[in-house]
Amino acid sequence: MDITQALPLLGGISPQQFMKRYWQKKPLLVRQALPQFTPLLSRSELMALAADEDMASRLVVQQPGKNPGWQLKHGPFQRKALPPFKQAGWTILLQGVDLHDESVHQLMNQFRFVPDARLDDVMISYATDGGGVGPHVDSYDVFLLQAHGRRLWRIGRQKKPVLQDGVPLRILNNFVPEQEFVLEPGDMLYLPPGYAHDGIAQGECMTYSIGFRIPKKAELARELLQRVAEQAEDELGEVLYRDASQPAVAQAAEIPAAMLAFAHQAVEDALKDPLALARGLGEYMTEPKPQVWFEALPQEDEVELAGCAVQLDRRTRMMFDQQHIFINGESFLAAGRDAELMRLLANQKSLSAKELQKLSKQAQKLLAAWAVAGWLHLI
Ligand code: SIN
Ligand code: CO
Repeated sequence: MDITQALPLLGGISPQQFMKRYWQKKPLLVRQALPQFTPLLSRSELMALAADEDMASRLVVQQPGKNPGWQLKHGPFQRKALPPFKQAGWTILLQGVDLHDESVHQLMNQFRFVPDARLDDVMISYATDGGGVGPHVDSYDVFLLQAHGRRLWRIGRQKKPVLQDGVPLRILNNFVPEQEFVLEPGDMLYLPPGYAHDGIAQGECMTYSIGFRIPKKAELARELLQRVAEQAEDELGEVLYRDASQPAVAQAAEIPAAMLAFAHQAVEDALKDPLALARGLGEYMTEPKPQVWFEALPQEDEVELAGCAVQLDRRTRMMFDQQHIFINGESFLAAGRDAELMRLLANQKSLSAKELQKLSKQAQKLLAAWAVAGWLHLI
């Protein structure tokens, strides 16, 4: 992607300018980010997805005059389990639609000026008149693309968010909107994390949220330390703690200082491999989402790469760093021309037949194995 090229998607500024001025900093409203946009999925296609076991979906129903005034249910939902379309004030939210639909996946790809490691998913919401999830704050960045109908967005910086008690949703009690906009199909609003917002459907409405993944420090520490420890298991072997010089103790409950020193050494040794953390990070970031499964080819299917181009399956996560190629939770050391071509595959999600020819026999074998696993497809 040419990151210096001005895009209608970003209101006539380039990805480079957008990242510098707005990303994680302030909201941006873009009128006609996608001119003449029409929904990629019809209402009935969305309702069919809501019934799908593999789809994470939520139904939020406003209950005026009742306490609590909101009801939240988790899917899957058969059509008859949903309120009638004539009933105002309900919304259904479908998470990860990009994994199920190629056109939604392609829409998400337009936002790949942000690293794949940050891009999360496309959530689609369908709402009847007045529907929404109430004023709230998200901890992630989001592009809110209006796909069908109109939605009123009220937004504001929220200094000290206070949540409503006794409701099943995270709804702000003290929301103070500072700006409001009505979005029409093709309009888009970018919000940085922590910016309070409330979207109210004006008539039947569909909104696509391009959402981002924000790793938490604690989550990374937990994940990576565990992975590093597992990787180091062979290296550290069965080394046992020895305490031949342990004197007799009067305070038996006290942990020996020597044991703490042994523990320090164990962690240090596990981290000794300079690539261990990078490997763990890449494997973690490319781990497929829990609901993802690939359609593997029967093992005996001979995959013949010659003359073919390849394309990554839309569910495949492929990334790289200076030393590695990562794909769906696995890591490979790569250098030279193979590394260059594998990086190309990760960036453009495909390789032409000509590019494929330039891979070493060993790398071609790997690609064939990925094709058998359903991680990529021959075209
Ligand atoms: C919605 O589409 O109704 C909610 C999106 C959001 O507020 O993040
Ligand atoms: Co939100």
